[in-house]
Amino acid sequence: MRGISPGIVLVVVMVLTPTFVHLRPAQGASEAGEIVVYSARIEQLIKPMFDAFTARTGIKVTYFTAKAAELFERLRAEGPHTPADIFMTVDAGNLWMAEHAGLLQGFTSSIIEQNIPAHLRAKNNAWVGLSVRARPIMYSTDRVKPSDLSTYEALGHPRWRGRLCLRTSRKVYTQSLVATMIKTLAERRTEEVLGGWMKNQPRIFNSDTQMLKAIAAGQCDVAIANTYYLARLQAKDPGFPVAVFWANPNDRGVHVNISGAGVTKFTKHRAEAVQLIEFLSSPEAQKLYADANYEYPANPAVKPHRLIAAWGSYKADTVDVAAAGALQAAAVKLMDRIGYK
Ligand SMILES: [Fe+2]
Repeated sequence: MRGISPGIVLVVVMVLTPTFVHLRPAQGASEAGEIVVYSARIEQLIKPMFDAFTARTGIKVTYFTAKAAELFERLRAEGPHTPADIFMTVDAGNLWMAEHAGLLQGFTSSIIEQNIPAHLRAKNNAWVGLSVRARPIMYSTDRVKPSDLSTYEALGHPRWRGRLCLRTSRKVYTQSLVATMIKTLAERRTEEVLGGWMKNQPRIFNSDTQMLKAIAAGQCDVAIANTYYLARLQAKDPGFPVAVFWANPNDRGVHVNISGAGVTKFTKHRAEAVQLIEFLSSPEAQKLYADANYEYPANPAVKPHRLIAAWGSYKADTVDVAAAGALQAAAVKLMDRIGYK
C-alpha cells in the first residue's frame, strides 16, 4: 500500500463497500508473504482452497467478498493504490471486461498451460478459468421426452410454444450464451434463433433456481440453465423432476462458461499471486473448488463430483470463452432488438 496507510484504506473500504467481509488490515497486504484477493465468489467456496494454499506455502490469503460489479468498480477507483493482488469472479464476460479495463496483467506459466485448456483462459493468462459451468437445456421428466430435444436452435420450434422458460437478457449468463452463439453462428443466424425463442412466448426469470422450480411446478417444460443449480436441488430432493439434456451433441456442443481469476495490474506481490493461481489450477484445489459448488473442474485431469458425473459426459463447446466479453455488447443489442427482456 505504497503511500497510503492501512487505516485510510480501511475507511475507504467501509465507505465504498459495506458488504466487504474478512478484512484484516492489521497484517495488511504490504507485508511480503501475504496476498489479498477480491472475490465475487463466496467464502464457503474459496476458503478451503486458500487454507490449503497457506498450509503448503506459508503465504497468507486475505479476501474481500462482494458482487463482481462492486469489486470491478473498486479496483478501478483504487488504481495503483489497490491492496488487491487477485481478482476472482464468475463468467468470462466479467473477466474479459476487467482485462480490457486495464485492471489485470498477464503472466506466463507452464503450470497453467499444462492444467487449464487454452479456450478457458485469456491468451496471456490475464485471466484463467478455474471452474467450468455448463449451461445445457433442462426439461421436465414428466412432460418431455428427451427425443423431442436436440439443439438450442430447436427451442424455437412451435412445439415449445408457451412451454419455454428463459433467464433474463440482463443476466451475464444469457449475454455470454448469446455472445458465443454470435461468434459461432454469426449475428444473422443468432437473431433468427432467438427470434424463434421469442415467438414461443417464453416466461422470463431472474433466477435459474426459480426457473427450474417453475418446470417442476408445471409452469413450463424446458429451459436453459446452469447445471449446478439443478445439482443443488437434486442434492436436497433426488426425485426433483427435471433432467439435463446435453444440447447440440452433433455440432458445437453445450455452452460452457467459467469462473476464474487474474492477477491485478497493480499487485505488489506478483510472484505470490501467480503462485496462488497456479495452485488453484492444481488437481488438489480443483477438486475442492468444483465440488464445493457442483461445478466442473477446469483441469481436465480432475473428475467431477459424483452427483453431476451421474448425468454422463457431454461435448462442450470449445469456442474461445473470451468471445463472451468481446461480443457482449453485440449480444445485448441483438436481444434488445428482438424484444428479449
Ligand atoms: Fe450462478
